[in-house]
Amino acid sequence: MDQRTVSSVIAGRPAAGAPGGRIRSTNPARLGDVVAEVALGDAPLLVTAARAACEAQRAWADVPAPVRGRAIAHIGRLVEDNKEALAALVTREIGKPYPEALGEVQEIIDTCDFFLGEGRRLYGQTVPSEMPDKQLFTFRNPVGTVAVITAGNFPVAVPSWYIVPALLCGNAVVWKPAEYSAAAAAAFHELFCRGGLPPGVFNVIHADGQQTFAGLEQALDAGLIDKVGFTGSSEVGARIGELTGRHLQSACLELGGKNPMVVTANADIDLAVEGALFGGFGTAGQRCTSLGTVICHESVHDEFLTRFAEATAAAPVGDPFGEVLYGPMLDIRFSERFDAYLAWIGPQHKVLGSTGVGRITAANPRAGFVGDPAAGLFYHPTIVDGVRPGDKVFDNETFGPLVGVTTYRTLEQAVELANAPGYGLSSSIYTSDASEAFRFRRGVSAGMVSVNNSTSGAEAHLPFGGNGKAGNGSRQSGQGGLDQFTRWQALNWDYSGRLQKAQMDVAELTPARDFRL
Ligand code: UN1
Repeated sequence: MDQRTVSSVIAGRPAAGAPGGRIRSTNPARLGDVVAEVALGDAPLLVTAARAACEAQRAWADVPAPVRGRAIAHIGRLVEDNKEALAALVTREIGKPYPEALGEVQEIIDTCDFFLGEGRRLYGQTVPSEMPDKQLFTFRNPVGTVAVITAGNFPVAVPSWYIVPALLCGNAVVWKPAEYSAAAAAAFHELFCRGGLPPGVFNVIHADGQQTFAGLEQALDAGLIDKVGFTGSSEVGARIGELTGRHLQSACLELGGKNPMVVTANADIDLAVEGALFGGFGTAGQRCTSLGTVICHESVHDEFLTRFAEATAAAPVGDPFGEVLYGPMLDIRFSERFDAYLAWIGPQHKVLGSTGVGRITAANPRAGFVGDPAAGLFYHPTIVDGVRPGDKVFDNETFGPLVGVTTYRTLEQAVELANAPGYGLSSSIYTSDASEAFRFRRGVSAGMVSVNNSTSGAEAHLPFGGNGKAGNGSRQSGQGGLDQFTRWQALNWDYSGRLQKAQMDVAELTPARDFRL
């Protein structure tokens, strides 16, 4: 298969050399397949990119918003026309099953569809003044230069949530994608540039985490970055929040999740099993919206667990271009980390769902495996029953194909268990009782709640984001994108020809305050 050479692109020109070294991005389903040779940049290169973005930004902000909206329209159509090719590259580079990769590319198109019209809206307000011959207005101004740092589990959809609204609103962007999804990132960048963006408005830097952090700090110190968007771990998110806070900025942080699914006594169990299978094991459990723990009413626990374990055991796992529930881990770093999470399973737990635990190999086979397990980083799906608060498996995100199961008696307990790990990204409840659904919604700390649907599958025009360890309350998608990448400016215009002092020179109508009926 073809192999690409990927390098950073600043102001439309590929950066020379590889000051941060060279790495290979490999296909996690076939480790011998090198998808791209990646020339990494370093901290100074990120600063150079930020400077180029700064230089391009003013002129981009001067392009009328409806014209910027046309660029987003062109990008959306180009992505649509290249949907299969981009999805195939995503599948090859990070192992997401092809139908899911198509869905991921569709999410870029949906995001473009939402924001292209915003170019003709980007509404401000016309507001009456408290004084005569004076008018008030509000305007949305671009923030300036935006640094976007994203993970590789959604290598093209999640970046679009930042980059599309940032560009539409008149900002310039420096994007640092994950190293292990560099080829998909390069394809995304090229499609966006071919949509008609002027050089310098959208720059991409490939670099490792350390150089990225150092470069970000230097660019912030030099006043070259006005906003940071970050999707990744809670640990790195906290460091970025601290760094941007020191520069009096609030980053848009989308971090981990330990997403609960409550299965109530009156739930449709078949539907809940289907939701748990897709939410828990889709993308091999490597979405930030992946199901973490099923919180099952004690009266339906045994029935749910039996059916969930049967469905999991029967689900096809393997080649992501085949008909599978899920494929490999995204990259070696994730499989190694997942091995460590599996070690958290203790003797108090009951393990179900497969013919083994851990990496699928000839010696540790998975019944019905699709393809050759030895070729890639494939893991058994693992259901861990009997998890409780205080267990590491219950308290922490376990990015990978692992789902915990626990029980509750009252809805209040279910809410408490749902909130206990301290993440607050996504959540779900299966119930046929509307009052349970609304009581859960009110009590759960998550930014997103599904009723009779899995924890995954957010639509591109609703607010996406979390609380607690899942983020700092920022929201992406839809209106959230505009709020992240613009700042309100308030204008007051006095045409009375005299100084009218607010709060002081204001007419008052006299009420009869002592009037009583
Ligand atoms: C993520 O995992 O970072 O709701 C984003 C979903 C997807 C997006 C997930 N639409 O699962």
